[in-house]
Amino acid sequence: TSIYWHDNAFLPEEEVRISPHDRGYNFGDGIYEVFRVYGGELFEAEAHFERLRLSAEGLKLALPWENDGLHAAMKELVERNALAEGTVYLQISRGTAPRNHLFPADAAPVALAYTREVGRPVQAMDQGISVVTLEDIRWLHCNYKTLNLLANVLAKQEAADRGAADAVLHRSGIVTESSASNVMIVKNGTLITHPADNLILHGVTRAVALRLARAAEIPTEERTFTLDELYAADEAFVTGTTVEITPIVAVDGREVNDGKPGPITRRLQREFAAVIG
Ligand code: PDD
Repeated sequence: TSIYWHDNAFLPEEEVRISPHDRGYNFGDGIYEVFRVYGGELFEAEAHFERLRLSAEGLKLALPWENDGLHAAMKELVERNALAEGTVYLQISRGTAPRNHLFPADAAPVALAYTREVGRPVQAMDQGISVVTLEDIRWLHCNYKTLNLLANVLAKQEAADRGAADAVLHRSGIVTESSASNVMIVKNGTLITHPADNLILHGVTRAVALRLARAAEIPTEERTFTLDELYAADEAFVTGTTVEITPIVAVDGREVNDGKPGPITRRLQREFAAVIG
């Protein structure tokens, strides 16, 4: 049986009791992180905990744990589940209280975490994916990783209904990110991605990809780019904890790089594989 971490205790999945009055459940009033585990180790753990803290500040949610305490709990969770390769999901809701939009005066945040055994997305990374573009209808604090994922859910489903693997989102023609990953393009040898502002999640994998590109002396630009630039890109790919670096080989039915992953994408995939060992 799978061991969960809930309300500061480790217990089997069957024994986890979620209150009907948990604000995460009632309002989506909470935050989360998804970590990758490679070789039994949490990948880029510090970056995830830093972002969790920024999300908490954004929601005015006072965390009763220090990063070290959370880190230790997640490590123990990985060990108790003997997880070698997979993900850790951690969510923190504002707590449990009678339903009222106002913050409860004395509710303690409730954390829930579990692991999932899942391999790397080798096929998509190898062959690339098709995407469709959709208007980004989310709010203006996409840098907070909140439990409110309805717009992301609708976008991903719309993509699937249209036979694509994911949706790339845009605000009036400016590409932001995808439903659950960041988007990068390559034009004339330069790697271009949306700046880390309030309109995108500041992806941990995005930061790793930029770091690897700079180390490889690939020019990088953190600037906005348009849908037309995406259509005309030499290469395009998404970055994320679950997708790693996955090539985009078609956008709205138009091929990118003749439908094949490009050389800079391949280079970054190799560098990434070297980092995760
Ligand atoms: N999603 N943008 C959005 C909207 C995301 O939800 C995610 C991650 C990313 C990539 O961030 P990172 O590289 O830190 O994983 C970008 C997670 C994996 C999820 O919701 O499942």
